[in-house]
Formats: sequence, structure tokens, C-alpha cells
Amino acid sequence: MGESSFAGQRVLITGASSGIGAGLAERFAREGAIVGICARRADRLQEVLDRCREHSPDSRMWVCDLAVADEVDRLSAAALTEMGGVDVLVNNAGVPKRRAVSLLDPDTVDALTVINYLSPVRLTLRLLAHMLTRDSGTIVNVSSVAAVLSSPGEAAYDASKAALSVFSEAMAVDLWDTGVDVLTVYPGVVDTELFEVPGNDALSPEIERISVGELVDGVMDALGRGVLEVYIPAWFKDVAARKAGDVEKFLAGTAEWVRGQNPSGRADGQA
Ligand SMILES: NC(=O)c1ccc[n+]([C@@H]2O[C@H](COP(=O)([O-])OP(=O)(O)OC[C@H]3O[C@@H](n4cnc5c(N)ncnc54)[C@H](OP(=O)(O)O)[C@@H]3O)[C@@H](O)[C@H]2O)c1
Repeated sequence: MGESSFAGQRVLITGASSGIGAGLAERFAREGAIVGICARRADRLQEVLDRCREHSPDSRMWVCDLAVADEVDRLSAAALTEMGGVDVLVNNAGVPKRRAVSLLDPDTVDALTVINYLSPVRLTLRLLAHMLTRDSGTIVNVSSVAAVLSSPGEAAYDASKAALSVFSEAMAVDLWDTGVDVLTVYPGVVDTELFEVPGNDALSPEIERISVGELVDGVMDALGRGVLEVYIPAWFKDVAARKAGDVEKFLAGTAEWVRGQNPSGRADGQA
């Protein structure tokens, strides 16, 4: 087997204490990348780092709360100083909010927007100048199919991910003539702790889940192909095209499906 294209690359991954971020960190480390990981839960992050270091001893971690702007700035500075630069930035950290709009309050929306949209944008802008100076780098933004499908019962989450996606796409155009690449990732439903975060409605058991390994395979494949976006599983791209083709029909179909899920027969799940 030839040497991985990520050997020796410095890869910064946010939200790597569990789920997709942990899976990506371990895969990059196995491929010889020097991995920098961050999250709030130090013990869980340390476990991931220990596994990364089995393959990539120079990997490191920073415990930080990305909801705090100063901590995002400190993370970017630490990554540049301690790793000597960042070749691949993976904006993966994120939180769910499965709650119908009739029960949403503005502060919840603000907090969600900070972690899912403002913080990855802040971290990107902090690191972009260094990538542009070298005229190389890759920025991976982990969005969600919820961003394009307007998933019911999670309007605030959908919108935070849609904002990240649109920023990501427009950034790709701005950077078209530079050596900095952008990949937007649209995961479907991945079996992670995202569905155990307190303060969220339960996920419909009807929705098919894929494993973290399948998601990681899809991201690595997309990076290898140098594409701008990837839906994982791929069939979600067809669903997105169907929605774009007839939004009214798609949303009516969504409401019908949600009504069928709820004992009250209402689209917002209320009695
Ligand atoms: N699972 C899915 O079906 C799915 C589908 C589409 C998109 N996504 C997206 O994929 C990404 C990863 O989610 P996951 O499914 O792997 O869930 P997860 O296991 O809950 O991972 C979320 C990660 O984000 C970190 N995080 C959350 N808030 C943070 C904060 N304030 N500061 C620093 N780190 C923070 C968490 O670490 P700490 O709690 O230790 O801070 C954790 O490492 C998210 O952006 C999510 O929206 C997931």
C-alpha cells in the first residue's frame, strides 16, 4: 500500500471527544496525519488522543468550549504554535436541537447558532490567513442533510447548518483561484451520542442510521476526489434534488409524514 496523502499533514478537528469527530481523528491518525483535537470533555478527549497517538505520537489535544469566542481564538493560536500550522481544518463540533418552533425560545436559538455556525466561521477565519500565505489547505465543514431538507421539529438546527453550508459554498467560490479547498459534508443520520443529548425530542425510529465508520469512509473518499460537497449516504442528494424541484410538494409530504408519526396527528407533535 502506498503512503497516504495525509501522511505528515496537520489536521485540526473540533468536537472530537465522541462520534464523527472521534472517528475522523482516529482515521487521520492511522493515515499518518498529526492530529489536533478539541472538545469540552477532557476525559473522553484523552481516550481519543491515546488511540490517535498509537499511530501518530505527535498528536495533541486542547480542552475548550467553542461557544466562547476567546476560547476559539486561543485554540487557533495554540494549533498554529504547537503544530506549526494547520493543513486540514475539520469544523465538526455541533449540538442538536430537536424541538418544534412552538416550544423554542430565542436564547436557545442564539446558543445553538453560536456553536453550530458562528464558532466554525470564527475558527476558519482565524486559520484562513495562514493557509492563504502558504497557498494550501483544506477546510471541511460538517453540515447536515437537515440544512437542505428543512427537517421537521428542528428548525433552529436546520437553519444553523444551512448558514454553515451557504458560508462554506460562498467561501469555496471566493477561494476558487487559491490553493485552499473547501468540502461541505452532509451526513444523514449517523449513530452517535447526538441523539442522547438532553433537552431534545426523540428521533423517529423509522429513520435509517449509518455507522460512524461509514461516514468517515465517505469523508475520506470525498477528500481524495477533491469534490466540493458530499452527501453520506449518497441517496440523500436525490432527496435534496426532489425538494428543490418542488418545495411545496416536498414540505406537504413532510408534514403528512410527521402527522403520521404523532399520536395527536398534528405536524408539530402537540396534543
Ligand atoms: N449524528 C448525526 O446523525 C449527524 C447528522 C448530521 C450532522 N451531524 C453533525 O456532525 C457533527 C458531530 O456530531 P456527532 O453526531 O458526532 O455527535 P456527538 O458525538 O455528540 O459529537 C459532538 C461533538 O461536538 C463537541 N461539542 C459540542 N459542543 C461543544 C462546545 N461548546 N465546545 C467544544 N466542543 C463541543 C462534543 O464534545 P464535548 O461534549 O466533549 O464538548 C462532541 O465531541 C455535529 O456538527 C452534528 O451536527 C451529525
